[in-house]
Amino acid sequence: MMLPSLVTLLSVGSMATAAPTTMNARDAVSRRLLIGGPSQILAVDFNGTSFEVVGKNVTSGAAPSWMRLKSSTKTLYAVDENTSNLNQFKLDDTKLSYTSSVTGSAGVVFLEFNKDQTRMVGAAYGSGMIDVWDVSADTPKILKQVKVEGALGPNQKIHHPHQALLDPTGRFMIIPDLGGDQILVLDTKDDKYEITKTVSLFAGAGPRHGGFITSGNNTFYTLACELSNKVILFQVDYTGDELAFKEISTQSTYGAEFPPANATSAAAGTVAIANNKDVYISNRLSGNATDSISHFVFDAKTTSLNFAHTASSHGILPRDISLSIDKDQSLLFVANQGGDNGLVALHRCPVTGRLDATPVAAKSLAELVAPGMEKEANAGPQFVQEI
Ligand SMILES: *[C@@H]1O[C@H](CO)[C@@H](O)[C@H](O)[C@H]1NC(C)=O
Ligand SMILES: *[C@@H]1O[C@H](CO)[C@@H](O)[C@H](O)[C@H]1NC(C)=O
Ligand SMILES: *[C@@H]1O[C@H](CO)[C@@H](O)[C@H](O)[C@H]1NC(C)=O
Ligand SMILES: *[C@@H]1O[C@H](CO)[C@@H](O)[C@H](O)[C@H]1NC(C)=O
Ligand SMILES: *[C@@H]1O[C@H](CO)[C@@H](O)[C@H](O)[C@H]1NC(C)=O
Ligand SMILES: *[C@@H]1O[C@H](CO)[C@@H](O)[C@H](O)[C@H]1NC(C)=O
Repeated sequence: MMLPSLVTLLSVGSMATAAPTTMNARDAVSRRLLIGGPSQILAVDFNGTSFEVVGKNVTSGAAPSWMRLKSSTKTLYAVDENTSNLNQFKLDDTKLSYTSSVTGSAGVVFLEFNKDQTRMVGAAYGSGMIDVWDVSADTPKILKQVKVEGALGPNQKIHHPHQALLDPTGRFMIIPDLGGDQILVLDTKDDKYEITKTVSLFAGAGPRHGGFITSGNNTFYTLACELSNKVILFQVDYTGDELAFKEISTQSTYGAEFPPANATSAAAGTVAIANNKDVYISNRLSGNATDSISHFVFDAKTTSLNFAHTASSHGILPRDISLSIDKDQSLLFVANQGGDNGLVALHRCPVTGRLDATPVAAKSLAELVAPGMEKEANAGPQFVQEI
Protein backbone atom coordinates (compact mmCIF):
# COMPACT_ATOMS: atom_id res chain seq x y z
CA MET A 1 0.00 0.00 0.00
CA MET A 2 0.93 3.61 -0.35
CA LEU A 3 1.25 6.00 2.57
CA PRO A 4 -1.72 4.97 4.70
CA SER A 5 -2.81 8.55 5.16
CA LEU A 6 -3.31 8.94 1.45
CA VAL A 7 -5.69 6.03 1.36
CA THR A 8 -8.22 8.42 2.83
CA LEU A 9 -8.05 10.40 -0.39
CA LEU A 10 -9.12 7.49 -2.53
CA SER A 11 -12.52 7.96 -3.95
CA VAL A 12 -14.36 4.99 -5.34
CA GLY A 13 -15.47 7.16 -8.23
CA SER A 14 -12.00 8.00 -9.45
CA MET A 15 -10.85 4.39 -9.12
CA ALA A 16 -13.70 3.33 -11.35
CA THR A 17 -12.47 5.56 -14.18
CA ALA A 18 -9.42 3.32 -14.60
CA ALA A 19 -10.90 1.19 -17.38
CA PRO A 20 -8.19 0.08 -19.77
CA THR A 21 -9.55 -0.26 -23.29
CA THR A 22 -6.61 -0.08 -25.67
CA MET A 23 -3.30 -1.81 -26.25
CA ASN A 24 -1.69 0.94 -24.29
CA ALA A 25 -3.82 0.04 -21.31
CA ARG A 26 -1.66 1.70 -18.71
CA ASP A 27 -1.87 5.05 -20.49
CA ALA A 28 -5.56 5.08 -21.37
CA VAL A 29 -6.71 6.37 -18.02
CA SER A 30 -8.29 9.64 -17.05
CA ARG A 31 -7.03 11.05 -13.81
CA ARG A 32 -7.50 14.27 -11.86
CA LEU A 33 -4.64 15.88 -9.96
CA LEU A 34 -4.45 18.68 -7.47
CA ILE A 35 -1.47 20.98 -7.81
CA GLY A 36 -0.38 23.65 -5.34
CA GLY A 37 2.31 26.26 -5.77
CA PRO A 38 3.11 29.92 -5.25
CA SER A 39 -0.10 31.97 -5.71
CA GLN A 40 -2.26 29.17 -7.09
CA ILE A 41 -4.16 25.92 -6.74
CA LEU A 42 -4.81 23.99 -9.94
CA ALA A 43 -7.08 21.09 -10.79
CA VAL A 44 -5.39 19.23 -13.62
CA ASP A 45 -6.69 16.41 -15.81
CA PHE A 46 -4.25 13.79 -16.98
CA ASN A 47 -5.23 11.54 -19.89
CA GLY A 48 -2.12 9.37 -19.93
CA THR A 49 -0.09 11.53 -22.28
CA SER A 50 -0.76 15.13 -21.36
CA PHE A 51 -1.83 17.39 -18.50
CA GLU A 52 -4.61 19.94 -18.87
CA VAL A 53 -5.51 22.61 -16.31
CA VAL A 54 -9.30 22.43 -15.78
CA GLY A 55 -9.84 24.52 -12.64
CA LYS A 56 -7.90 27.05 -10.64
CA ASN A 57 -7.73 29.60 -7.85
CA VAL A 58 -5.11 32.29 -8.30
CA THR A 59 -4.36 34.42 -5.24
CA SER A 60 -1.30 36.62 -5.38
CA GLY A 61 0.93 36.02 -2.36
CA ALA A 62 -0.73 32.80 -1.17
CA ALA A 63 1.39 29.70 -0.71
CA PRO A 64 -0.85 26.61 -0.86
CA SER A 65 2.02 24.15 -0.60
CA TRP A 66 -0.09 21.36 0.96
CA MET A 67 -3.73 20.24 0.75
CA ARG A 68 -6.11 17.54 1.90
CA LEU A 69 -9.46 16.67 0.36
CA LYS A 70 -12.24 15.36 2.56
CA SER A 71 -13.99 12.90 0.30
CA SER A 72 -17.41 12.88 2.02
CA THR A 73 -17.97 16.63 1.64
CA LYS A 74 -15.57 17.42 -1.24
CA THR A 75 -14.02 20.03 1.03
CA LEU A 76 -10.50 20.93 0.08
CA TYR A 77 -8.37 22.25 2.94
CA ALA A 78 -5.33 24.21 1.81
CA VAL A 79 -2.53 25.68 3.87
CA ASP A 80 -1.13 29.11 3.16
CA GLU A 81 2.47 28.75 4.16
CA ASN A 82 2.92 32.54 4.09
CA THR A 83 0.12 33.40 6.53
CA SER A 84 -1.86 31.83 9.41
CA ASN A 85 -4.84 31.02 7.21
CA LEU A 86 -6.38 27.65 6.65
CA ASN A 87 -8.38 28.05 3.46
CA GLN A 88 -11.37 25.97 2.45
CA PHE A 89 -12.66 25.24 -1.01
CA LYS A 90 -15.28 22.96 -2.54
CA LEU A 91 -14.14 20.86 -5.43
CA ASP A 92 -17.15 20.06 -7.55
CA ASP A 93 -16.01 18.21 -10.65
CA THR A 94 -13.62 20.72 -12.24
CA LYS A 95 -15.02 23.68 -10.32
CA LEU A 96 -12.87 24.87 -7.47
CA SER A 97 -14.84 27.34 -5.33
CA TYR A 98 -13.44 29.18 -2.36
CA THR A 99 -15.71 28.97 0.68
CA SER A 100 -13.97 30.37 3.77
CA SER A 101 -10.83 30.77 5.85
CA VAL A 102 -10.00 30.30 9.51
CA THR A 103 -6.88 31.26 11.42
CA GLY A 104 -4.40 28.94 13.07
CA SER A 105 -0.65 28.98 13.55
CA ALA A 106 1.62 30.64 11.02
CA GLY A 107 3.54 28.76 8.38
CA VAL A 108 1.67 25.46 8.20
CA VAL A 109 3.18 23.16 5.57
CA PHE A 110 1.31 19.86 6.07
CA LEU A 111 -2.21 18.70 6.94
CA GLU A 112 -3.30 15.24 8.06
CA PHE A 113 -6.70 13.78 8.92
CA ASN A 114 -7.41 11.32 11.68
CA LYS A 115 -9.00 8.05 10.64
CA ASP A 116 -12.60 9.25 10.33
CA GLN A 117 -11.63 12.69 8.99
CA THR A 118 -13.25 14.55 11.90
CA ARG A 119 -9.91 15.96 13.07
CA MET A 120 -7.09 17.50 11.12
CA VAL A 121 -3.58 18.23 12.31
CA GLY A 122 -1.41 20.98 10.83
CA ALA A 123 2.39 21.00 11.11
CA ALA A 124 3.43 24.65 11.38
CA TYR A 125 7.01 24.69 10.14
CA GLY A 126 7.08 28.48 10.25
CA SER A 127 6.15 28.89 13.91
CA GLY A 128 7.10 25.62 15.60
CA MET A 129 3.48 24.74 16.43
CA ILE A 130 1.10 21.87 15.88
CA ASP A 131 -2.55 22.77 15.23
CA VAL A 132 -5.38 20.37 15.97
CA TRP A 133 -8.65 21.17 14.20
CA ASP A 134 -12.16 19.85 14.60
CA VAL A 135 -13.23 19.49 10.97
CA SER A 136 -16.47 17.61 11.63
CA ALA A 137 -18.60 20.64 10.73
CA ASP A 138 -18.43 23.13 7.85
CA THR A 139 -16.30 25.61 9.76
CA PRO A 140 -13.11 24.18 11.24
CA LYS A 141 -12.66 24.89 14.95
CA ILE A 142 -9.25 24.95 16.55
CA LEU A 143 -9.13 22.41 19.39
CA LYS A 144 -5.55 22.75 20.43
CA GLN A 145 -2.29 24.44 19.52
CA VAL A 146 0.75 22.56 20.78
CA LYS A 147 4.09 24.30 21.06
CA VAL A 148 6.98 22.03 20.08
CA GLU A 149 9.64 21.95 22.78
CA GLY A 150 13.11 20.55 23.41
CA ALA A 151 16.68 21.28 22.42
CA LEU A 152 17.37 22.76 19.00
CA GLY A 153 19.71 21.34 16.38
CA PRO A 154 22.93 23.08 15.31
CA ASN A 155 22.26 26.57 13.85
CA GLN A 156 18.51 26.19 14.36
CA LYS A 157 16.48 29.07 15.77
CA ILE A 158 13.09 27.44 16.18
CA HIS A 159 11.42 24.06 15.94
CA HIS A 160 10.15 23.09 12.52
CA PRO A 161 7.45 20.40 12.52
CA HIS A 162 7.37 19.41 8.86
CA GLN A 163 4.82 16.62 8.52
CA ALA A 164 2.19 14.81 10.58
CA LEU A 165 1.58 11.31 9.29
CA LEU A 166 -1.07 8.97 10.68
CA ASP A 167 0.43 5.58 11.52
CA PRO A 168 -1.03 2.29 10.22
CA THR A 169 -2.96 1.74 13.47
CA GLY A 170 -4.70 5.09 13.05
CA ARG A 171 -3.90 6.13 16.61
CA PHE A 172 -0.59 8.00 16.42
CA MET A 173 0.71 10.79 14.24
CA ILE A 174 4.43 10.90 13.62
CA ILE A 175 5.89 14.40 13.29
CA PRO A 176 9.46 14.99 12.09
CA ASP A 177 10.86 18.21 13.65
CA LEU A 178 13.57 19.56 11.36
CA GLY A 179 14.64 22.26 13.83
CA GLY A 180 14.95 19.93 16.81
CA ASP A 181 16.47 16.84 15.16
CA GLN A 182 13.69 14.76 16.64
CA ILE A 183 10.56 12.81 15.86
CA LEU A 184 7.44 13.58 17.89
CA VAL A 185 4.69 11.09 18.58
CA LEU A 186 1.23 12.67 18.85
CA ASP A 187 -1.30 10.37 20.49
CA THR A 188 -4.82 10.99 19.15
CA LYS A 189 -6.53 8.60 21.57
CA ASP A 190 -9.66 9.95 23.31
CA ASP A 191 -9.20 13.20 21.39
CA LYS A 192 -6.20 14.10 23.57
CA TYR A 193 -3.67 14.94 20.85
CA GLU A 194 -0.76 14.93 23.25
CA ILE A 195 2.90 14.51 22.44
CA THR A 196 3.63 11.32 24.36
CA LYS A 197 7.10 10.61 23.07
CA THR A 198 10.06 12.25 21.40
CA VAL A 199 12.85 10.38 19.63
CA SER A 200 16.19 12.18 19.31
CA LEU A 201 18.14 11.85 16.09
CA PHE A 202 21.78 12.68 15.42
CA ALA A 203 22.74 16.37 15.54
CA GLY A 204 22.11 18.07 12.20
CA ALA A 205 19.85 15.30 10.92
CA GLY A 206 17.13 17.77 9.90
CA PRO A 207 14.25 15.29 9.48
CA ARG A 208 11.59 16.32 6.96
CA HIS A 209 9.18 13.64 5.72
CA GLY A 210 8.60 9.97 6.47
CA GLY A 211 6.49 7.03 5.37
CA PHE A 212 5.30 3.71 6.78
CA ILE A 213 5.86 0.14 5.66
CA THR A 214 3.96 -2.77 7.14
CA SER A 215 5.22 -6.31 6.74
CA GLY A 216 3.35 -9.14 8.43
CA ASN A 217 2.80 -7.88 11.95
CA ASN A 218 5.78 -5.55 11.79
CA THR A 219 5.77 -1.83 11.17
CA PHE A 220 8.64 0.18 9.77
CA TYR A 221 9.12 3.91 9.27
CA THR A 222 11.46 5.45 6.72
CA LEU A 223 12.49 9.03 7.37
CA ALA A 224 14.10 11.37 4.83
CA CYS A 225 16.27 14.02 6.45
CA GLU A 226 16.58 17.29 4.56
CA LEU A 227 19.67 18.74 6.26
CA SER A 228 21.82 15.60 6.26
CA ASN A 229 20.43 13.93 3.11
CA LYS A 230 20.09 10.71 5.02
CA VAL A 231 17.30 8.17 5.02
CA ILE A 232 16.77 6.36 8.31
CA LEU A 233 14.90 3.06 8.56
CA PHE A 234 13.26 2.34 11.91
CA GLN A 235 11.32 -0.60 13.20
CA VAL A 236 8.32 0.66 15.16
CA ASP A 237 7.26 -1.55 18.06
CA TYR A 238 3.89 -1.12 19.73
CA THR A 239 3.37 -2.09 23.33
CA GLY A 240 0.12 -0.87 24.88
CA ASP A 241 0.09 2.92 24.81
CA GLU A 242 3.73 3.14 23.81
CA LEU A 243 5.60 2.89 20.60
CA ALA A 244 9.35 2.47 20.31
CA PHE A 245 11.56 3.38 17.37
CA LYS A 246 14.49 1.06 16.78
CA GLU A 247 16.98 2.37 14.22
CA ILE A 248 17.91 -0.26 11.65
CA SER A 249 19.97 1.70 9.14
CA THR A 250 21.03 5.22 8.13
CA GLN A 251 22.31 5.89 4.62
CA SER A 252 22.54 8.60 1.98
CA THR A 253 19.32 9.45 0.16
CA TYR A 254 21.46 9.37 -2.99
CA GLY A 255 22.74 5.82 -2.56
CA ALA A 256 26.48 5.19 -2.62
CA GLU A 257 27.12 5.65 -6.33
CA PHE A 258 25.31 8.85 -7.25
CA PRO A 259 26.39 11.60 -4.85
CA PRO A 260 25.04 15.12 -5.37
CA ALA A 261 27.25 17.41 -7.45
CA ASN A 262 26.80 20.00 -4.68
CA ALA A 263 26.57 18.49 -1.19
CA THR A 264 26.16 21.96 0.36
CA SER A 265 22.89 22.84 -1.36
CA ALA A 266 21.47 19.29 -1.45
CA ALA A 267 18.22 19.00 0.55
CA ALA A 268 16.21 15.78 0.56
CA GLY A 269 12.54 16.38 -0.16
CA THR A 270 9.78 13.89 0.35
CA VAL A 271 8.98 10.18 0.50
CA ALA A 272 6.48 8.04 -1.40
CA ILE A 273 6.06 4.35 -0.66
CA ALA A 274 4.39 1.78 -2.93
CA ASN A 275 3.41 -1.76 -2.13
CA ASN A 276 5.03 -1.71 1.34
CA LYS A 277 8.31 -2.20 -0.48
CA ASP A 278 9.29 0.49 -2.97
CA VAL A 279 10.53 3.66 -1.30
CA TYR A 280 11.00 6.78 -3.45
CA ILE A 281 12.79 9.86 -2.13
CA SER A 282 13.12 13.16 -3.98
CA ASN A 283 16.56 14.77 -3.91
CA ARG A 284 16.49 18.55 -4.28
CA LEU A 285 19.19 21.08 -5.24
CA SER A 286 21.70 18.35 -6.02
CA GLY A 287 23.70 20.67 -8.28
CA ASN A 288 23.32 18.16 -11.13
CA ALA A 289 21.72 19.13 -14.43
CA THR A 290 18.41 17.91 -13.04
CA ASP A 291 17.44 16.68 -9.59
CA SER A 292 16.63 13.06 -8.91
CA ILE A 293 14.37 10.49 -7.30
CA SER A 294 16.08 7.62 -5.55
CA HIS A 295 14.41 4.24 -5.43
CA PHE A 296 15.10 2.00 -2.45
CA VAL A 297 13.65 -1.47 -1.93
CA PHE A 298 12.62 -2.71 1.48
CA ASP A 299 13.61 -6.36 1.93
CA ALA A 300 11.33 -7.96 4.50
CA LYS A 301 13.49 -11.07 4.85
CA THR A 302 16.59 -9.19 5.94
CA THR A 303 14.66 -6.12 7.21
CA SER A 304 16.90 -3.85 5.20
CA LEU A 305 16.43 -0.88 2.91
CA ASN A 306 18.52 -1.19 -0.22
CA PHE A 307 19.30 1.42 -2.86
CA ALA A 308 18.09 0.22 -6.26
CA HIS A 309 18.40 3.05 -8.77
CA THR A 310 18.06 6.75 -9.43
CA ALA A 311 15.81 8.54 -11.95
CA SER A 312 15.84 12.12 -13.14
CA SER A 313 13.05 14.35 -11.83
CA HIS A 314 13.27 16.19 -15.18
CA GLY A 315 13.42 19.47 -13.31
CA ILE A 316 14.88 21.16 -10.23
CA LEU A 317 13.56 21.16 -6.64
CA PRO A 318 11.12 18.23 -6.65
CA ARG A 319 9.40 19.27 -3.43
CA ASP A 320 6.65 16.73 -3.87
CA ILE A 321 6.28 13.28 -5.39
CA SER A 322 3.22 11.05 -5.08
CA LEU A 323 1.85 7.82 -6.48
CA SER A 324 -1.15 7.35 -8.74
CA ILE A 325 -4.13 5.78 -6.98
CA ASP A 326 -4.70 2.77 -9.24
CA LYS A 327 -4.14 -0.62 -7.62
CA ASP A 328 -0.68 -1.00 -9.13
CA GLN A 329 0.30 2.60 -8.37
CA SER A 330 1.70 2.54 -11.86
CA LEU A 331 2.76 6.18 -11.98
CA LEU A 332 4.87 8.50 -9.88
CA PHE A 333 3.95 12.16 -10.22
CA VAL A 334 6.65 14.76 -9.65
CA ALA A 335 6.19 18.46 -8.82
CA ASN A 336 9.34 20.41 -9.70
CA GLN A 337 9.57 24.00 -8.47
CA GLY A 338 12.26 24.84 -11.03
CA GLY A 339 13.97 23.64 -14.19
CA ASP A 340 12.27 22.80 -17.49
CA ASN A 341 9.37 20.62 -16.37
CA GLY A 342 7.00 21.60 -13.57
CA LEU A 343 4.90 18.45 -13.65
CA VAL A 344 6.06 15.00 -14.68
CA ALA A 345 4.52 11.50 -14.72
CA LEU A 346 6.96 8.59 -14.60
CA HIS A 347 5.85 5.03 -15.24
CA ARG A 348 6.65 2.67 -12.36
CA CYS A 349 7.08 -1.05 -12.84
CA PRO A 350 4.64 -2.61 -10.33
CA VAL A 351 6.92 -5.64 -9.90
CA THR A 352 10.42 -4.19 -9.59
CA GLY A 353 9.41 -0.65 -8.68
CA ARG A 354 11.77 0.74 -11.28
CA LEU A 355 10.90 4.15 -12.73
CA ASP A 356 11.17 4.67 -16.49
CA ALA A 357 13.82 7.21 -17.44
CA THR A 358 11.54 8.81 -20.04
CA PRO A 359 8.36 10.41 -18.65
CA VAL A 360 4.99 9.32 -19.99
CA ALA A 361 4.03 12.99 -19.77
CA ALA A 362 5.50 16.31 -18.74
CA LYS A 363 4.22 19.88 -18.60
CA SER A 364 6.64 22.76 -18.90
CA LEU A 365 7.32 24.86 -15.85
CA ALA A 366 6.41 28.04 -17.77
CA GLU A 367 2.85 26.75 -18.20
CA LEU A 368 2.53 26.07 -14.46
CA VAL A 369 3.71 29.36 -12.98
CA ALA A 370 1.01 31.75 -11.74
CA PRO A 371 0.50 35.08 -13.50
CA GLY A 372 2.78 37.68 -11.99
CA MET A 373 5.27 35.07 -10.73
CA GLU A 374 7.11 34.59 -14.05
CA LYS A 375 10.21 36.44 -12.89
CA GLU A 376 10.49 34.63 -9.53
CA ALA A 377 12.93 31.75 -9.19
CA ASN A 378 11.46 28.30 -8.57
CA ALA A 379 7.82 29.42 -8.70
CA GLY A 380 6.62 26.07 -10.04
CA PRO A 381 4.48 23.38 -8.39
CA GLN A 382 5.17 22.37 -4.77
CA PHE A 383 2.42 19.82 -4.28
CA VAL A 384 0.90 17.11 -6.47
CA GLN A 385 -1.70 14.50 -5.58
CA GLU A 386 -4.10 12.43 -7.63
CA ILE A 387 -7.65 12.60 -6.26
C1 LIG B 1 -4.54 13.56 -24.40
O1 LIG B 1 -4.79 14.90 -24.71
C2 LIG B 1 -3.94 15.43 -25.72
C3 LIG B 1 -4.21 16.93 -25.81
O2 LIG B 1 -5.56 17.18 -25.92
C4 LIG B 1 -4.19 14.69 -27.03
O3 LIG B 1 -3.35 15.18 -28.03
C5 LIG B 1 -3.92 13.21 -26.80
O4 LIG B 1 -4.24 12.47 -27.96
C6 LIG B 1 -4.72 12.69 -25.63
N1 LIG B 1 -4.27 11.34 -25.35
C7 LIG B 1 -5.10 10.35 -25.12
C8 LIG B 1 -4.49 9.03 -24.79
O5 LIG B 1 -6.30 10.49 -25.17
C1 LIG C 1 6.03 33.40 0.61
O1 LIG C 1 7.06 33.74 1.48
C2 LIG C 1 8.33 33.44 0.97
C3 LIG C 1 9.32 33.74 2.06
O2 LIG C 1 9.02 32.98 3.16
C4 LIG C 1 8.60 34.26 -0.26
O3 LIG C 1 9.86 33.87 -0.80
C5 LIG C 1 7.54 33.97 -1.28
O4 LIG C 1 7.70 34.82 -2.39
C6 LIG C 1 6.17 34.16 -0.69
N1 LIG C 1 5.23 33.64 -1.63
C7 LIG C 1 4.42 34.40 -2.28
C8 LIG C 1 3.53 33.67 -3.23
O5 LIG C 1 4.38 35.60 -2.14
C1 LIG D 1 -9.12 32.16 -4.12
O1 LIG D 1 -8.74 31.73 -2.82
C2 LIG D 1 -8.53 32.79 -1.90
C3 LIG D 1 -8.08 32.16 -0.59
O2 LIG D 1 -6.78 31.64 -0.77
C4 LIG D 1 -9.78 33.61 -1.73
O3 LIG D 1 -9.54 34.69 -0.87
C5 LIG D 1 -10.24 34.11 -3.07
O4 LIG D 1 -11.48 34.76 -2.92
C6 LIG D 1 -10.39 32.96 -4.07
N1 LIG D 1 -10.67 33.51 -5.38
C7 LIG D 1 -11.78 33.21 -6.03
C8 LIG D 1 -11.93 33.86 -7.37
O5 LIG D 1 -12.63 32.47 -5.59
C1 LIG E 1 0.54 -11.77 13.70
O1 LIG E 1 0.13 -11.84 15.05
C2 LIG E 1 -0.95 -12.71 15.25
C3 LIG E 1 -1.45 -12.56 16.69
O2 LIG E 1 -0.41 -12.20 17.54
C4 LIG E 1 -0.51 -14.13 14.93
O3 LIG E 1 -1.57 -15.02 15.10
C5 LIG E 1 -0.04 -14.18 13.48
O4 LIG E 1 0.47 -15.44 13.15
C6 LIG E 1 1.01 -13.14 13.21
N1 LIG E 1 1.26 -13.06 11.78
C7 LIG E 1 2.50 -13.05 11.27
C8 LIG E 1 2.60 -12.95 9.78
O5 LIG E 1 3.50 -13.10 11.95
C1 LIG F 1 25.55 14.14 -10.03
O1 LIG F 1 26.83 14.68 -10.15
C2 LIG F 1 27.83 13.95 -9.46
C3 LIG F 1 29.13 14.73 -9.55
O2 LIG F 1 29.32 15.20 -10.82
C4 LIG F 1 27.93 12.56 -10.06
O3 LIG F 1 28.91 11.78 -9.38
C5 LIG F 1 26.59 11.88 -9.95
O4 LIG F 1 26.62 10.61 -10.57
C6 LIG F 1 25.51 12.73 -10.61
N1 LIG F 1 24.21 12.13 -10.35
C7 LIG F 1 23.49 11.59 -11.29
C8 LIG F 1 22.19 11.02 -10.89
O5 LIG F 1 23.85 11.53 -12.46
C1 LIG G 1 26.77 24.81 -3.89
O1 LIG G 1 25.68 25.28 -3.09
C2 LIG G 1 26.02 26.33 -2.24
C3 LIG G 1 24.82 26.57 -1.33
O2 LIG G 1 23.67 26.84 -2.08
C4 LIG G 1 26.40 27.54 -3.07
O3 LIG G 1 26.74 28.61 -2.24
C5 LIG G 1 27.57 27.17 -3.98
O4 LIG G 1 27.85 28.24 -4.85
C6 LIG G 1 27.26 25.92 -4.78
N1 LIG G 1 28.46 25.48 -5.47
C7 LIG G 1 28.53 25.35 -6.78
C8 LIG G 1 29.84 24.84 -7.33
O5 LIG G 1 27.60 25.64 -7.49
